[in-house]
Amino acid sequence: MSTIITSRDDLPKDILELLIEAKKVSVNAYNRYSNFFVGAAVKTTSGKIYTGTNLENASYGLSICAEPAAIMNANSNGDNNIEIIAIVGGFNEDPKQEPVTPCGRCRQVIYEASQIVGKDIKVYCSNLNLSKIRVTTIEELLPFAFHLKEV
Ligand code: THU
Repeated sequence: MSTIITSRDDLPKDILELLIEAKKVSVNAYNRYSNFFVGAAVKTTSGKIYTGTNLENASYGLSICAEPAAIMNANSNGDNNIEIIAIVGGFNEDPKQEPVTPCGRCRQVIYEASQIVGKDIKVYCSNLNLSKIRVTTIEELLPFAFHLKEV
């Protein structure tokens, strides 16, 4: 069951670190059409962290979200056994903003990563202020997901 955390102090140290890495890169979002900042950070079984931001396009539908950017970064480094993903997003650092949760397409992309690692992936969704964090998993975010085979 998904839970909400409203104090950083209640987060395990490694999760806070992952959220901070996601927040750090969110300032690099190429978001000239929406002005919405998103940063994602994935942690693999090797313990390494890979980040990504959203990258928009004048042809709006071609925009790329932060989550696949981070996952592709891990894959490009030959390190794609992802165990945890942290996502932070918002228009600004208003502490009252809700956590950003991944869009439907991103859920399917994260699900594929869970097939690669062979287990459920922990998903931490936050606002930019890191003051409201939804704790969930990809199985919970995308039940009965489409897949072709168990990898
Ligand atoms: N966006 C993400 O990068 N990840 C999400 O989980 C939600 C939406 C981006 C896409 C677009 O650049 C902007 O946020 C507004 O939708």
